[in-house]
Amino acid sequence: MGSTIVAHEVEKSFGTGRGSKRRAVDVLRGVSLAVEPGEMVSIVGPSGSGKSTLLYCLSGLEAADSGSIEVMGRQVVKASRDSLFKTRRDHVGFIFQSYNLIPSLSAGENVALPARLAGRPLTRAQVGEVLESVGLGGREKSRPADMSGGEQQRVAVARVLASSPDIVFADEPTGALDSKNGREVLGMLRRIADDPQRSVVVVTHDLEAASLADRVLVLKDGRVVREMGCSTAGQLLEALGEAA
Ligand SMILES: Nc1ncnc2c1ncn2[C@@H]1O[C@H](COP(=O)(O)OP(=O)(O)O)[C@@H](O)[C@H]1O
Ligand SMILES: [Mg+2]
Repeated sequence: MGSTIVAHEVEKSFGTGRGSKRRAVDVLRGVSLAVEPGEMVSIVGPSGSGKSTLLYCLSGLEAADSGSIEVMGRQVVKASRDSLFKTRRDHVGFIFQSYNLIPSLSAGENVALPARLAGRPLTRAQVGEVLESVGLGGREKSRPADMSGGEQQRVAVARVLASSPDIVFADEPTGALDSKNGREVLGMLRRIADDPQRSVVVVTHDLEAASLADRVLVLKDGRVVREMGCSTAGQLLEALGEAA
């Protein structure tokens, strides 16, 4: 089986300002990485180093300017809308810091929606099971507004699990949670990557969280400046200090 993600020399810049003040900000300056099946990879680095942009580019939510990104063997850079749509639908799950649930839908409907849009609808029992698996058994009918942040993020995890993606991206998934809920959500992400077929890439500023990963990439100024194996929070703190 091949790599889940192979990225080579990915570059991305944003234009800012107007007229004579117009500047290009180079956010990703040649990022290369690979993610293997069954791996959990953490990305850490200073604020503004390009972590979110990298995750958006790898997942096809944002278009990279140049380089190559293959997700499950499918090219993402400069891919057609149709091809990108299929890659995302068939292979990718994404968890945001702010949960991104649809407020007018119940927890069960939020979980069921992506599978329904993909033409692979879940049964009521399957929706119940996946909610049960994140500790939300019997909460199908709850609305996001009636749930705590931790509960909403667990619905977001259930929504990802329901579509059985090969790769789950999570951008600061515990950034808005207290430490207990944060640990639970991270444990769920870790268990996704314990499946030898599945991979997780998580951006986090929480070094305890990063220490759950099999590999940690340190990003600085749009480049991977260091790669570490499974590391303690203390080792990561030291590496970040050297990168700063
Ligand atoms: N849509 C955008 N337009 C202009 N600049 C952006 C945009 N998105 C991100 N940036 C800039 O790119 C840099 C990296 O941002 P980001 O990827 O969010 O970093 P991180 O997640 O590591 O904090 C920042 O300087 C940010 O201002
Ligand atoms: Mg970010």
